[in-house]
Amino acid sequence: MKPVIKWSGSKRSQALKIKSFFPETFGTYFEPFIGGGSMLYAINPSKSICGDICVPLIDLWNEIKEHPEQLASEYGTRWSRLQNEGYTAYYDIRDAFNQHNNPQDLLFLSRTCVNGLIRFNDKGEFNNSLHYSRSGIKPDSLREIILDWSAHIQGASFFANEYYNTTQSAVAGDIVYLDPPYFHTKGRYFGTIDYNRFLEYLEDLNVRGIKYLLSFDGIRGKENYTVDLPKELYKRHEFIPSGNSTFKKVIDKETEKVLESLYMNY
Ligand SMILES: C[S@@+](CC[C@H](N)C(=O)[O-])C[C@H]1O[C@@H](n2cnc3c(N)ncnc32)[C@H](O)[C@@H]1O
Repeated sequence: MKPVIKWSGSKRSQALKIKSFFPETFGTYFEPFIGGGSMLYAINPSKSICGDICVPLIDLWNEIKEHPEQLASEYGTRWSRLQNEGYTAYYDIRDAFNQHNNPQDLLFLSRTCVNGLIRFNDKGEFNNSLHYSRSGIKPDSLREIILDWSAHIQGASFFANEYYNTTQSAVAGDIVYLDPPYFHTKGRYFGTIDYNRFLEYLEDLNVRGIKYLLSFDGIRGKENYTVDLPKELYKRHEFIPSGNSTFKKVIDKETEKVLESLYMNY
């Protein structure tokens, strides 16, 4: 699967493994921390409700779903401008995005910034720089990816919302996949969540008889980031291999095994 939105904390490498823990049948699929949507793509449900706190991200999802050809063409226009004008085009488009939060600008920035990392500062401004040594994915290649994802997500609805609002309409028989930002990381993702409020939320899903899978915490090398989820909130806890830590690889050429938790209430 080629990502259409490159998002920090993507579950791309674990998506198929996580999918293997899904029940065979379920009603509506809910994903309240959608980010780059790797699980949505892997599950490919006929009906889903997805949310995220990041408004421009949700606007971009809606463009991919509703106007894929136009989005691809808007990328082509910006990409050509970058090839012709050089770096000033990138920084003009970044300024424009920070003023108007236009999703077409966000897509362009995500494909031409350093390491393709969508990054916002505390004021919600996109602050990553241009990746000088790369020219950004060619418009024809990105168009194919956009059209493929657009076809995949026609049964999905996207809302800019707090996670607990996204699943308000869920009923018994539906399934919720949760991938919140890690509680121990700061500034890596857009938005933060209150741990106790989140535990109450899981309890509420249990009371309502709604199945959930939660990607939560992990073990990296010798460091254990496992947060003790109260035992009464889940029935099953698995560790999913998520490859090696690239951060460590860059720092001292060592690789460390990374395991991420998957909790299920069924
Ligand atoms: C770990 S990322 C999800 C990555 C996603 N699973 C993927 O494969 O790309 C966590 C997401 O939660 C969102 N988020 C943070 N706080 C939130 C909140 N209170 N309600 C809803 N979404 C929130 C972030 O914007 C981010 O997209």
